[in-house]
Amino acid sequence: MPVLEGSVGVEDLVLLEPLDEDSLIKNLQLRFENKEIYTYIGNVVISVNPYQQLPIYGPEFIAKYQDYTFYELKPHIYALANVAYQSLKDRDRDQCILITGESGAGKTEASKLVMSYVAAVCGKGEQVNSVKEQLLQSNPVLEAFGNAKTIRNDNSSRFGKYMDIEFDFKGSPLGGVITNYLLEKSRVVKQLKGERNFHIFYQLLAGADAQLLRALKLEQDASHYTYLNREVSRVHSMDDASNFRDVQSAMSVIGFSEDEIRQVLEVTALVLKLGNVELADEYQANGTPASGIRDGKGIREIGEMMGLSSVELERALCSRTMETAKEKVVTTLNVMQAQYARDALAKNVYSRLFDWIVGRINESIKVDTGEKRKVMGVLDIYGFEILEDNSFEQFVINYCNEKLQQVFIELTLKEEQEEYRREGIPWTEVEYFDNSIICNLIEHSQRGILAMLDEECLRPGVVSDSTFLAKLNHLFSKHNHYESKVTQNAQRQYDHTMGLGCFRICHYAGKVTYNVNGFIDKNNDLLFRDLSQTMWKAKHPLLRSLFPEGNPKEASLKRPPTAGTQFKNSVAILMKNLYSKNPNYIRCIKPNNQQQKGRFSSELAVVQARYLGLLENVRVRRAGYAHRQVYKPFLERYRLLSRSTWPHWNGGDREGVEKVLESVAVSSEEFAYGKTKIFIRSPKTLFHLEEQRRLRLHQLATLIQKVYRGWRCRTYYQQMRKSQILISAWFRGNKQRRHYEKMKASAMLIQAFVRGWKARKNYRKYFRSGAALTLSNFIYASIAQKFFLDLKKNLPSTKVLDSTWPAAPYKCFTSANQELKRLFYQWKCKKFRDQLSPKQVQMLREKLCASELLKGKKACYPQSVPIPFRGDYIGLQGNPKLQKLKGKEDGPVLVADTVKKVNRGNGKTSARILLLTKRHVILTDAKKSQAQIVIGLENVTGVSVTSLQDGLFGLHLSEMSSADSKGDILLISDHVVELLTKMYQAVLDATEKQLSVAVTEKFSVKFKESSVAVQVVQGPSGSGNSKLVCKKKGSHSMEVTVR
Ligand SMILES: Nc1ncnc2c1ncn2[C@@H]1O[C@H](COP(=O)(O)OP(=O)(O)OP(=O)(O)O)[C@@H](O)[C@H]1O
Ligand SMILES: [Mg+2]
Repeated sequence: MPVLEGSVGVEDLVLLEPLDEDSLIKNLQLRFENKEIYTYIGNVVISVNPYQQLPIYGPEFIAKYQDYTFYELKPHIYALANVAYQSLKDRDRDQCILITGESGAGKTEASKLVMSYVAAVCGKGEQVNSVKEQLLQSNPVLEAFGNAKTIRNDNSSRFGKYMDIEFDFKGSPLGGVITNYLLEKSRVVKQLKGERNFHIFYQLLAGADAQLLRALKLEQDASHYTYLNREVSRVHSMDDASNFRDVQSAMSVIGFSEDEIRQVLEVTALVLKLGNVELADEYQANGTPASGIRDGKGIREIGEMMGLSSVELERALCSRTMETAKEKVVTTLNVMQAQYARDALAKNVYSRLFDWIVGRINESIKVDTGEKRKVMGVLDIYGFEILEDNSFEQFVINYCNEKLQQVFIELTLKEEQEEYRREGIPWTEVEYFDNSIICNLIEHSQRGILAMLDEECLRPGVVSDSTFLAKLNHLFSKHNHYESKVTQNAQRQYDHTMGLGCFRICHYAGKVTYNVNGFIDKNNDLLFRDLSQTMWKAKHPLLRSLFPEGNPKEASLKRPPTAGTQFKNSVAILMKNLYSKNPNYIRCIKPNNQQQKGRFSSELAVVQARYLGLLENVRVRRAGYAHRQVYKPFLERYRLLSRSTWPHWNGGDREGVEKVLESVAVSSEEFAYGKTKIFIRSPKTLFHLEEQRRLRLHQLATLIQKVYRGWRCRTYYQQMRKSQILISAWFRGNKQRRHYEKMKASAMLIQAFVRGWKARKNYRKYFRSGAALTLSNFIYASIAQKFFLDLKKNLPSTKVLDSTWPAAPYKCFTSANQELKRLFYQWKCKKFRDQLSPKQVQMLREKLCASELLKGKKACYPQSVPIPFRGDYIGLQGNPKLQKLKGKEDGPVLVADTVKKVNRGNGKTSARILLLTKRHVILTDAKKSQAQIVIGLENVTGVSVTSLQDGLFGLHLSEMSSADSKGDILLISDHVVELLTKMYQAVLDATEKQLSVAVTEKFSVKFKESSVAVQVVQGPSGSGNSKLVCKKKGSHSMEVTVR
């Protein structure tokens, strides 16, 4: 929905041409007739009451206005609420929404629209929703108790309401505070024709079920009650019964307990019932008029319900106690006075009940958290009123409206123009009406009407409304905005509309004539102490709590502040509050007095437009600038739009702002540079800037996200990397350390071993460990010594054949002992050998040779061993004959023995002498002196001998021997061992050949041509020397039997 597309008239009066009152009203009318009830003047919304439900509200529209900026959619209260809420949220500026207009112009409806919009767009969540519900539900409750049907408005707010909604930094509602101003309590007892009492009374009667009515002792019929105007008990646009249910449920949503709701209704019922307490004339004995209750039923019911003594209540209503320092004087009241007291009580009970309800709501919605809050205030205060008969209430209501107009003037017209001047912006002054003179007239602390009223109330002496008026007439006779009969007469004016007891004030919105009647009383607002004390005595907790001053202990003689002063003070606080916030205006206009839809009365509208100062507002707006801001915050907000100022700007604020505006391509007419502020002409430019900022924020957010994500990943990676390096460093370090420790331990171990070993080596001698060895060595040496010494003592004989040897005392000496034994034996042998003569040596050699040849082979060998070889067994030495046998040969005769020669032919034996010389073997017959057979040793080839005991041996000769040789010779010798031994040696010496000596039982003996096989057999053994028997067996064999 772009701007101006299909718009009716102009949506913003700033664009109006020509700019005059007429075209302004026509534009409003045109739009109104086309059901466009909202129009802007810049950021001010003008709302014309349509008196019909238009299809421009609800969630769909709220969503739309939430998404668009102010000027993008048709003018709407939602757009204003959106701007205020966004500004509160984004710029952290507290907001107030000032809704002004006449009674019935649509202020309350507008305030509800603002609240419903804010509730819909602000945060969500269980907690937030419950706060929202409480805030929204406060409306039906306050409307039931504070609104009433008037001739102007079926749902007229009869109290002023300012509500602060508090938000947290996110823009979610936390709670709120409601301030109420001056309830029109006179309505409780009296209403104008065509008007009603407060809604709650009708709602209670219409909506309460029979049981509740019984409990409250009420009749359903409203006409039964004096305080309810019998003419109009129903308003056709309202369903009292269903509203009553709504009110009850709203109260429980807010947090009223069942008991509290019941008590509230009981007090409400009490007010109704009070109205029905009829008072009748009575006279005292002395004839002075007095009063009494006509029908005791009503007052009894009240007494029962409230836990009051009806007698006491009657006394309090019908008499008055005057206390002086000395005494108490009770005076009776006449009927009029008693009625006045009754009504005063009813009004007081009701207005205090209303205050209590507001307080109770505040208790529920108050914010407990101490966090910094943002506040949006919504002001819906009774509109400016001009009634036929205006009293004190209208006076204060209009005063309040006057003050609000002042706020508007101050903030939009005066302050704005002054600011242009201050900031040095070229400016043509726009004329407007400044109402501060009227405000002063009313509120001046010494010379204001309210001050005068207070003075009159407090003044001793006879005080009446007319004395008050006289005072005003005297004081303001020359005041331009004050008139009365007296001042008119003085100026010779004739005005029949001005009554005698009246004064008139020229308000910004028109002239209002006030009737001073009741001003003093209403300002005093005093309740007879009898009444408040009686109320305090009630057992009903709520009623009792409404009259704390009734407590005699707390009764103070100090006067409470007057109603006027209280109101003035609360208005002052309100103003201060409003000035501290950013104002947003909704200016409501009533199109007709008949509450009819589609009817637009230009006359009525023109009056309102005039006093609302709409035209001036348009003029200032048109000539001026929609937005201004100090350079610094402006630069802070928008500097992200220019590359020169973002992200860093070191220059001045103003230069920075210039840079920003250069970069956003805004026409130079759209802004002006003041001394401290930048001024932006049209809101469109501001919205353009906002939109640019929004887009840029998106970009920056993306950038920040990007950078942040990159940074996060990078840091994560670096952290991981660092951790990895750290872990591996630790791991490696640890590994190396362990390795090193191991190496070190090993080295130390080795070192320790080496050192130990070295030390041990060096110091072994000092250590006991060596002692064992030393000891063992010593012991060993000593036992060895002992062993040797013992051995020395026990040495066996030195005889060679003695082979005894002492046994080794210890096993360890076994081998040594053996060796010693061997050595000793060898030594003994050597010694033995050394003492041998060469002859003995020779003999032993021969023995040795004999043993080599025959030991173990020949059975007679062992017997031969001990017998020394004599060689000469025949006495050769002394017998020269025998010596001749030797012939010419030199050298000794080795053996000279008698042998037997076996005849080969028959086996018979014949004795012979055998001589063995170094060269020959000589055989000869003993009887002959001539050698028979001489055999050269070189011809002896071998000897065969038996293994038996016998002395037979065969002498084998070579065939080449002497020609006369008859072959081998068989001989028998008794000294066969000696003979063979010496023959062996002789052959060795002579020929250097070893004679073969065969030990055998079978051998053959060669003869010339043949040979004879000799077989030696062992015969049965005979005694003494062995005997041989040779038997020839055939020609070629011979058997020798050995016996
Ligand atoms: N925007 C609207 N749409 C439909 N009807 C509306 C709208 N505004 C006001 N009305 C009607 O006008 C009536 C009066 O409005 P409202 O109660 O808001 O007036 P007011 O300015 O608060 O008057 P008072 O000063 O008496 O309280 C409402 O009851 C309602 O019927
Ligand atoms: Mg209202």
